[in-house]
Amino acid sequence: MKNWTPDSWRQAEARQMPAWPDAAKAAAVEAEMKSFPPLVFAGEARELKSQLSEVVFGRAFLLQGGDCAESFAEFHPNNIRDTFRVLLQMAVTLTFASHMPVVKVGRMAGQFAKPRSSDVEEMGGVSLPSYRGDIVNDINFEAAARMPDPERQKRAYMQAAATLNLLRAFATGGYANLHQVHKWNLDFVARSPWAERYAEVASRIGEALSFMEACGISPETVPQLKGTQFYTSHEALLLGYEEAMTRQDSLTGDWVDTSAHMLWIGDRTRFPGSAHVEFLRGVMNPVGVKCGPSLKADDLLRLIDELNPTNEAGRLTLISRFGADNVEAHLPALVRAVQREGRHVIWSCDPMHGNTVKSSSGYKTRPFDRILAEVRQVFAVHRGEGSHAGGIHIEMTGQNVTECTGGAICVTDEGLADRYHTHCDPRLNASQSLELAFLIAEELAADRRRLQQAA
Ligand code: PEP
Ligand code: CO
Repeated sequence: MKNWTPDSWRQAEARQMPAWPDAAKAAAVEAEMKSFPPLVFAGEARELKSQLSEVVFGRAFLLQGGDCAESFAEFHPNNIRDTFRVLLQMAVTLTFASHMPVVKVGRMAGQFAKPRSSDVEEMGGVSLPSYRGDIVNDINFEAAARMPDPERQKRAYMQAAATLNLLRAFATGGYANLHQVHKWNLDFVARSPWAERYAEVASRIGEALSFMEACGISPETVPQLKGTQFYTSHEALLLGYEEAMTRQDSLTGDWVDTSAHMLWIGDRTRFPGSAHVEFLRGVMNPVGVKCGPSLKADDLLRLIDELNPTNEAGRLTLISRFGADNVEAHLPALVRAVQREGRHVIWSCDPMHGNTVKSSSGYKTRPFDRILAEVRQVFAVHRGEGSHAGGIHIEMTGQNVTECTGGAICVTDEGLADRYHTHCDPRLNASQSLELAFLIAEELAADRRRLQQAA
């Protein structure tokens, strides 16, 4: 990688970074973190990239989801388990319908830092620094709490390490064994019609497993049935933290950001000349870029040149987030430009960030039917352009929260107040996540049938 070092981003324009009140203290924390153990290995990031290359060519699907912002307050094994479980349920639903492997990537174990539309928040005539995620400051609207504190980066690292440890145990220690597929159904989802559909899918998988077992294929003979591969990701926003976690792979000499398997660049930090682009171009991890309405095709091609100059399949995931009403106006031009230039990318859809509204009760929310509408439109555009709708990127939780309106167990505007717990953006609850998975499953099954007919 030419003219790149882990700190070369410091010469570029870094937006959305906290102004640490004590720069020397921040530097000392980051220096200390350089000796912390890596959270992931280069080999794992390479393995993820290889699985993602299958997504590029339409032979696998990417499922990426988790909190908008992880928090210190909601750090609990049950929360981690429940989010993991819903992602497993979604993955099984998608695999069953599409006959394709699903690459599972959590917005977990490091998703702490948040870009904000304003540097300050005003309330009752008082103006304080905006909350930028628990890795930077505290959400309480008090002057001391909102003061950025670099020490919080160490706590975030420790929480990420413990979360990742539990995720690894869930993925490989028996919990994700396909024979458990029935048991992943959550109690409070049981009231939803989608829980019934899921139970049906689980039964059919159970039958298939029994049949295979009779043929000698069991978790003992085929380890893939015993567990799963689960990867982590977050927005690489706090570049001091990411730099501290970046190490050189002793085998290949590659630089790896060991804070997560996959990192992405937000819609607010992908501009030309961005420090975030400069940083991520030099690490070998799979990288995502959020693509919002302001992104022009030429700028996208320039970004692709910078982030994936060798056109490596699996390196780059483009995450479109236009809003249900804007997909048609923006996505086709980007897809055509990428196709014209023969670039290998994954097209993933974030149906959350373009569909945020203020409810009549004053809460920031996302109407579930708008989320579904964006997903449907994205599939329609890719079908029209001959590209693959390769993935979904969602903010969700396994908890029974009331943050997005709608869904089969309908969350109303008035009901938002009941269990509105998010530290940042509104998340799908477990039931809404499963419902979304069934919608995508239908789209993928339709694509599969179309391909079979064409063959
Ligand atoms: C996010 O994913 O939480 C986010 C801030 O997204 P975007 O950069 O697309 O606005
Ligand atoms: Co968000």
